[in-house]
Amino acid sequence: MSSNNEPRKAIDLSHHVNKMSRSRGASPLKHIFQYLAEPGMISLAGGLPHPSLFPYQQLDLKVYTPDAKITPGEAVNSSMALSLPQYANGNQLNTLSKALQYYSGRGSPTLTALFYDFTARIMRPGYANWQVLLNSGSTDGWSKVVNLFCEPGDYIIVEEHTFPSAQALWAPMGCKGVAVKMDKDGMIPEDLERIMENWATSHPGIKRPHLLYTVPVGQNPTGSTLTWERKKAIYEICVTYDIIICEDDPYYFLQLPQYVAPSERSGEAPQGVAIIEELLVTWGQDGYLRWLLGIRENYGIRRDWIVDIVRDVFDVLPAGDDYDNDFIAVIKGHGKDTNPVPLFSFSYPKGGMFLYIKVHLGQNPDFKALKDAGEEEPDEKWTREFWQELIQEKILVTPHWFYAPVVGPGEEKKKEPDVAFFRLAFSYESREDMYIGVQRLAKAFGKSWQNLTDYNVV
Ligand SMILES: Cc1ncc(COP(=O)(O)O)c(C=O)c1O
Repeated sequence: MSSNNEPRKAIDLSHHVNKMSRSRGASPLKHIFQYLAEPGMISLAGGLPHPSLFPYQQLDLKVYTPDAKITPGEAVNSSMALSLPQYANGNQLNTLSKALQYYSGRGSPTLTALFYDFTARIMRPGYANWQVLLNSGSTDGWSKVVNLFCEPGDYIIVEEHTFPSAQALWAPMGCKGVAVKMDKDGMIPEDLERIMENWATSHPGIKRPHLLYTVPVGQNPTGSTLTWERKKAIYEICVTYDIIICEDDPYYFLQLPQYVAPSERSGEAPQGVAIIEELLVTWGQDGYLRWLLGIRENYGIRRDWIVDIVRDVFDVLPAGDDYDNDFIAVIKGHGKDTNPVPLFSFSYPKGGMFLYIKVHLGQNPDFKALKDAGEEEPDEKWTREFWQELIQEKILVTPHWFYAPVVGPGEEKKKEPDVAFFRLAFSYESREDMYIGVQRLAKAFGKSWQNLTDYNVV
């Protein structure tokens, strides 16, 4: 905020724009759209097709009502009709003749205005002259950011486990990822600071990274969510080193309430939800938010399913200081063993749709055998074999190398040794199938840690 409490203007970041984008000129044909909107204008200018040639007369849809209760596994019976006519009739201004017509490069002004209003109310940007640019989803938006700012060969700051499609855009440009360490609360600011502070010595003569890509909520694949303190710290570091932060935030509305064990669950909706709903009533604003909140509730239920199931199928114990996760899973019925073998550690996902488990290989007999045989990358070999065993058992999860930062042409960053990671998505399967899936996982763990079969759980 500036001194008179008006939000300040955005800082000028135009020096980050790459050479190609700087040399782009505006299309004169797009420029005329602003005049087209003037009342009474007769246009013999653009070559727009006449809407009578569009092959659609009317669009009739049946959609859920915004307050429809979508409980996993249950049918929704609350629906409403939505109709888009070809031409304006009465109050209905959204028409097919407009929706299917050419627009300015910024896309539909009506939709832009809607998202502008939504963003202003919900996200409350901290500066005055912000804008909304429509795109076709997160990947498309990110590709535009990359094409605007990155030169071939640039370094891009990413999380230690990163969303692969985001890299697929810049890797062919010869760009390279700089991986920042992360834990259950997301990217670790101190590590970012360390990288930037040492850049001149670690990369002599090479341009400093000036773009940071992060998934701040329900990170894909780790399920971590950046804390407010970390966000502030990362922001300060980026201001110091002149780095643009690009938040890819598809899971913003999937910030989940804290996991509570079934025995302590009251069955009531968490307080925060009621408060937001009340706000919505006051705003009189849109079913859209109501709908998003319903989706969030749904994912909350699904998150609870996977965690409940893991706690049921394995024995789950507090992890202690030796781990960067909150819990360790050991084989069920570890009996009198007071120091049971940790199979994997994990933390409860606080957002998004993924549970990321970190498998501890130190006491795995196959892994030890690979190490003893002098295998160069025993953990990678073990993980690939184990992943195939999981597939044989008909349980499909994604392994850590899917998310490895690309650090050079055809080169991926190596993860820490003696561990493996798998991502379990809780977005899709039914509770029953999730249960069977986690049981299959446990069976594969039991088999692989042969010395644990004494516990008779397999
Ligand atoms: C972090 C992240 N970004 C982007 C996407 C894809 O988004 P979109 O389909 O809108 O391109 C996903 C989907 O998995 C994702 O997890």
